[in-house]
Amino acid sequence: MPRSNGLFLVFIVYALQFFIFPSPGSAGHLEPFKHTPVPPGNPQTQEKIELGKMLFFDRRLSGDGTMSCATCHIPDMGFSDGEAISLNYPTTKNWRNSPTLINVAFSKFLFHDGRVETLEDQALFPMMSSFEMNQNLDFLEEEIRSVPEYLVLFKKVFGSDDITREKMAMAIAAFERTLVSLNAPLDKYLNGNLEVLSSEAKKGYEIFVGKGKCTDCHYGVTLIDDKFHALNVPENPDFQADPRVAATRRFVAKLNHYEDFRNLQEDPGRYLITKDKKDWRAFKTPTLRDIAKTGPYMHNGIFDSLDETIEFFNLGGGPGNTVLKPLHLDDAEKQALKIFLVEALNGDDIVMPTPKIP
Ligand code: HEC
Ligand code: HEC
Repeated sequence: MPRSNGLFLVFIVYALQFFIFPSPGSAGHLEPFKHTPVPPGNPQTQEKIELGKMLFFDRRLSGDGTMSCATCHIPDMGFSDGEAISLNYPTTKNWRNSPTLINVAFSKFLFHDGRVETLEDQALFPMMSSFEMNQNLDFLEEEIRSVPEYLVLFKKVFGSDDITREKMAMAIAAFERTLVSLNAPLDKYLNGNLEVLSSEAKKGYEIFVGKGKCTDCHYGVTLIDDKFHALNVPENPDFQADPRVAATRRFVAKLNHYEDFRNLQEDPGRYLITKDKKDWRAFKTPTLRDIAKTGPYMHNGIFDSLDETIEFFNLGGGPGNTVLKPLHLDDAEKQALKIFLVEALNGDDIVMPTPKIP
């Protein structure tokens, strides 16, 4: 095929995608909660969700039996862990902030660098990670198989008591898809109940969609764009000198075939996955739903408060970034923006006592 025809075809496909695969919302448009997307290969059933929940809270999933998924994704803390840098396997140190799992079903990319695209694929990573659960999956399969209650449950859910890592991951993913933020004032507001927000929060809403330009990136149902941006968030000074964090950074970089991993001083973000210069220190746009419950903020937890985070955006992001411009918000505007984030985006608390683990 001549080159120009090839290009034309690329153009047609590019143009068509907007008709065939409508995006979850276009820039500037916030959307009320509707329903949770579920992949056809892993339909939700009540029993599968219950099994996934048990596994999520089961400390057998970690090598030394001290940690479950819920250790770093704590229900009472919006399914994050309240630490700047997340918890870790003994003697090691993590290097990134634990993200909320609320509304995670809506995300097209998982992890701060988007290296995984489905919850089914994601679930095995923390189990295997040397600095998280540090478990051997062949061993884990045998361990779970030795628990009679699990044999019964796997049989009920999957029609066979052959316990595999893939089935564990499917059950955990089904459970995670139930973690949704419901009844936030923003949903009621977008559905026409204009009285539900205080006048401060309404002012903040106007800044969020207007002068603040927040909806350039935070839009749709979960206030994300499924994209990565290099805002040049600084390295977190509290951890920059920690040799264990540096070891984790070098280790992850090496696993991702980053050649000069020994001399790496910063988190390369999305670049680790794509090796594309424009992705250097780019991170995924995170959801802002339930944001008041999930601090500290950013991929490395550098900001303890929403005030600091808002000031970061107000100043036009980190040094040298080409994505953000200063906003020149005055104190009252910054305050209103914060009140919008705290008041409007807070869904019902998810109250989840630890289930009984067999
Ligand atoms: C030791 C703490 C820790 C444990 C244990 C842990 N996680 Fe995480 N989780 C994290 C951190 C930190 C990240 C972000 C890592 C990154 O971006 O590189 C993360 C990211 C995720 C994400 C991606 C969320 C998003 O929005 O991108 C999901 C989903 C998730 N974890 C689920 C789980 C499941 C399921 C388990 C148990 C099998 C688990 N986690 C165990 C700390 C932990
Ligand atoms: C160019 C895209 C873009 C724009 C515009 C933008 N953000 Fe973000 N936002 C991001 C990205 C990317 C991150 C994650 C950065 C990181 O982890 O290092 C983020 C992180 C955040 C966080 C922290 C979330 C968390 O859980 O850690 C908050 C709060 C936030 N943004 C609020 C805002 C507000 C308010 C505005 C408008 C004033 C705004 N953002 C404008 C892309 C954007």
